[in-house]
Amino acid sequence: MTAAAQAATLNAPQGLPNAAGPADAVPAPRVSPHPYATQRAAERAALAAQGSARRETLLYLDGVTKTFDGFKAINGLSLVIQKGEMRAIIGPNGAGKTTMMDIITGKTRPDTGEVFFKGETDLTRHDEPSIASMGIGRKFQKPTVFESHTIEDNLRLALSGSRSILDALVHRRTAADAAKIDEILAVVRLSAKRSTMAADLSHGQKQWLEIGMLLAQDPELLLVDEPVAGMTDAETEETARLLREIAQTRSVVVVEHDMHFVRALGVKVTCLHEGSVLSEGTLDHVSNDPRVVEVYLGR
Ligand SMILES: Nc1ncnc2c1ncn2[C@@H]1O[C@H](COP(=O)(O)OP(=O)(O)OP(=O)(O)O)[C@@H](O)[C@H]1O
Ligand SMILES: [Mg+2]
Repeated sequence: MTAAAQAATLNAPQGLPNAAGPADAVPAPRVSPHPYATQRAAERAALAAQGSARRETLLYLDGVTKTFDGFKAINGLSLVIQKGEMRAIIGPNGAGKTTMMDIITGKTRPDTGEVFFKGETDLTRHDEPSIASMGIGRKFQKPTVFESHTIEDNLRLALSGSRSILDALVHRRTAADAAKIDEILAVVRLSAKRSTMAADLSHGQKQWLEIGMLLAQDPELLLVDEPVAGMTDAETEETARLLREIAQTRSVVVVEHDMHFVRALGVKVTCLHEGSVLSEGTLDHVSNDPRVVEVYLGR
C-alpha cells in the first residue's frame, strides 16, 4: 500500500472533521492537520531543502539516465560540483564519462534525471549554443585549433565569439582585447609563441591553445576530456599546474585516465562505472576502494 493510500485508510471516515452529525451532538473534534496536508508539507519541506542545497551548487546532476539502443550508457548518475571546485573524473573505458559531458553541454539529452547549472538553470531545456553562452566551456579530446593561423589570431578568433573569421581578423584591436590575449597567452604558456602558426605547435601546446581559446569565452565551468592523452611527461606535469591555476578563478571538471596527472591535480576524484558513481573522495580513498580495484583489474 502506498503512503497516501495508507493515510487515506487510517482516516476514513471518522477522523475527518465535520464527518459526524450536527455540531451540538458531538464534542468538537480535536483539530489536527489533515494527514494529506502533513504529508504535502513534509514533501514541500524535503523539496525546499533539496532546492536550497541545489542552489548552492554550480553543477547538479541527479538520477540521470541515458540509453542508447537499449544500452544504459548513463544509469542513475548523481554528481554535484561546487562553485570554484575542480573535480577529476576517472573510470574505465565506456564508463560514461564523455556521455556525461555530452549531457551537461546539451549535445545529448538525457532520458530522465535533473541537470542544473548554478542551482537554477535546467540544462536539459537548452541546446548546445545556449549552454556554451551561459558559461560552460568544453574541450574535446582532439584539439580543434585553426592550424593555418597564428596562436594570437586563434585567440582573437575565440575572443570574437560568433563573428566571422575575416571580420574577427580585421576587427579593430582594442586595448582590452590585447590585454586579455596577453593574459591568456601567459596562462597557457604560449607567450613566446604568439606569432607561431598553430600547425607548428606540439600536440601538447595545441591542447593548451585550445584551453586558451575556451578561456577567451570566460567560462564559469570548464569541462576537459582527457587533456593529457598523447602529451609528453613534461607537458602532462605542466598541464596539471596550468589547470590548477585556471581552477583558482573558475570550476573545472577533468576526465582523465592518467593517474600521475590526477594525483598532480590534487583534487577530489569521482570514479564512474557503468554510467553511475562507483566511488568518490581523495585519490587514495578511491584507488583503494575494492570496487574500484575490481573494475580496473577486471578489464
Ligand atoms: N551516440 C552514441 N550511440 C550509441 N552508443 C553510445 C553513444 N555515445 C556513447 N555510447 C556508448 O555509451 C557508453 C559510454 O561511452 P562514453 O564515451 O561516455 O565512455 P567514456 O567513459 O568516455 O569512455 P572512454 O574512457 O573510452 O572515453 C559506451 O558503451 C559507448 O559505446
Ligand atoms: Mg570518453
